[in-house]
Amino acid sequence: MEFSRKSLVIKMLISAIFLLGLSSSSVAEFRVARHATTSTTIEYPALNCRKHSAVLTEFGGVGDGKTSNTEAFKAAIANLSQLAADGGGAQLVVPPGKWLTGSFNLTSHFTLFIHKDAVILGTQDESEWPHLPVLPSYGRGRDAPNGRFSSLIFGTNLTDVVITGNNGTIDGQGAYWWKKFKEEKLNVTRPYLIEIMYSSQVQISNLTLVNSPSWNVHPIYSSDIIIQHLTILAPVDSPNTDGIDPDSCTNTKIEDSFVVSGDDCIAVKSGWNQYGIKFNMPTKNLVIRRFTCISPDSATIALRSEMSGGIEDVRAKDITAINTQSGVRIKTAVGRGAYVKDIYVRRITLNTMKYVFWMTGSYGSHPDPGFDPKALPVIKGINYRDVVADNVTYSARLYGIENDPFTDICISNVNIKLTSKPKELQWNCTNIQGVTNQVTPEPCNLLPEKEIDCPFPEDRLPIDNVKLKTCSISGNF
Ligand SMILES: *[C@@H]1O[C@H](CO)[C@@H](O)[C@H](O)[C@H]1NC(C)=O
Ligand SMILES: *[C@@H]1O[C@H](CO)[C@@H](O)[C@H](O)[C@H]1NC(C)=O
Ligand SMILES: *[C@@H]1O[C@H](CO)[C@@H](O)[C@H](O)[C@H]1NC(C)=O
Ligand SMILES: *[C@@H]1O[C@H](CO)[C@@H](O)[C@H](O)[C@H]1NC(C)=O
Ligand SMILES: *[C@@H]1O[C@H](CO)[C@@H](O)[C@H](O)[C@H]1NC(C)=O
Ligand SMILES: *[C@@H]1O[C@H](CO)[C@@H](O)[C@H](O)[C@H]1NC(C)=O
Ligand SMILES: *[C@@H]1O[C@H](CO)[C@@H](O)[C@H](O)[C@H]1NC(C)=O
Ligand SMILES: *[C@@H]1O[C@H](CO)[C@@H](O)[C@H](O)[C@H]1NC(C)=O
Repeated sequence: MEFSRKSLVIKMLISAIFLLGLSSSSVAEFRVARHATTSTTIEYPALNCRKHSAVLTEFGGVGDGKTSNTEAFKAAIANLSQLAADGGGAQLVVPPGKWLTGSFNLTSHFTLFIHKDAVILGTQDESEWPHLPVLPSYGRGRDAPNGRFSSLIFGTNLTDVVITGNNGTIDGQGAYWWKKFKEEKLNVTRPYLIEIMYSSQVQISNLTLVNSPSWNVHPIYSSDIIIQHLTILAPVDSPNTDGIDPDSCTNTKIEDSFVVSGDDCIAVKSGWNQYGIKFNMPTKNLVIRRFTCISPDSATIALRSEMSGGIEDVRAKDITAINTQSGVRIKTAVGRGAYVKDIYVRRITLNTMKYVFWMTGSYGSHPDPGFDPKALPVIKGINYRDVVADNVTYSARLYGIENDPFTDICISNVNIKLTSKPKELQWNCTNIQGVTNQVTPEPCNLLPEKEIDCPFPEDRLPIDNVKLKTCSISGNF
């Protein structure tokens, strides 16, 4: 049941009168009054509201930061999954407290709501993280060939799943995993914080994610995804703590989010070499807007390097990066196959950056030696417009592949200010073709001047037509 604010006020009045009218209130009556006076309602936007609602503590959850809640999460979601099946859906509220847990799985027509004073803590007990088979489009685990740990919050083959809150926290307690990874003591790929696989209608919003063991948010083989109002924080020297990695996904929107991390703030992917080519599932129709990144050794947005299912129609605008290695970067290699095409970037503001424009056609990193040397990636139609950058070391390093040039590159209205000690060669270009307009400092001669504003599509993608409903949770918090 959801309570409106009005009925809440009436209830409070009734209990106050009730209390005043009694000279000695029993314990039971006192509880009723206390319940009414401290119950609050929180509204939040979501793909769908839910008929059924429960709080983690109803299933034995203990929020002391020490007790494992893995079984409580499993029991709660199993129970709510049954209730949700009547068509009304269900939501699970994680109330204030510190909720230690291992990996657990979500269900369809389901909302996980994490209260602002709640922290979900990822356990460092490896036995609480089941192993999953490797992803078919990768052919092996990213860190290690022998499979992978399930993500802290995992979902597969779902429709209509929401992970949200009013800025609740998920803390992966990643230090344990970073250390083991650096010492090469893991033979299974590290877990991610959130992975949603083979699913549609996904929302991940209004959360703070900290210290992920590896990537933070990994939607894969999924569609119709809204990611908004996320704060993602990891030490800038933590290994592979990518922010958001849409991987073989269609119709995705990422907006109003902030990432500080040890790897790319956003990494757009679609599988690795022959495995990705065979699986053949691109990432396409991706919108990124109002996004801020800090990542001194990585990219703001990388179209990278696992792109063997193709990457197509990415629109990034109103992007800010501070103390970040590069802007919207392309990483690929011989053996990847597929394509990166129709990429549009507009209005980006960069401060303290090594490379404003960076494309790499020789980014090795192969899953195994069995790649096809004839599988050349097609990189085509890469558009950058309205870029302001300050304190820059290199304006551009644009390296295509020999006999496989990167084509139709367009760069317009760019003003780059250099560091006090800039490199002499500001633009270095090989095996590329394209045009520039109003770009300072002066571009390389493979990108001749042409009077053009580089295109940015004006039409809306279907994901922008999805309207969120106003939903609510109520309880004593
Ligand atoms: C779980 O679901 C059933 C209905 O299917 C319900 O009767 C029960 O109270 C629920 N809650 C718990 C804590 O088991
Ligand atoms: C989650 O689902 C996957 C795939 O169905 C399964 O292998 C895994 O064991 C489940 N995880 C948990 C914690 O139950
Ligand atoms: C999930 O969906 C994929 C792709 O449709 C399918 O191959 C797989 O068998 C499904 N898995 C489950 C557990 O239903
Ligand atoms: C989600 O975050 C946005 C931006 O900070 C904020 O305006 C909105 O109120 C938040 N929603 C909830 C339910 O806290
Ligand atoms: C959410 O919490 C994080 C961590 O405390 C904080 O940095 C961020 O500003 C908060 N966001 C909002 C919208 O309150
Ligand atoms: C992985 O490592 C564990 C302990 O470090 C070891 O027991 C196990 O045999 C290894 N598995 C494989 C497949 O190498
Ligand atoms: C400019 O960039 C350099 C690194 O190249 C950095 O050390 C310095 O702090 C930056 N200066 C400002 C004013 O941001
Ligand atoms: C420019 O790029 C070419 C080709 O990658 C490379 O061989 C050369 O060393 C680069 N020059 C500078 C000064 O970086």
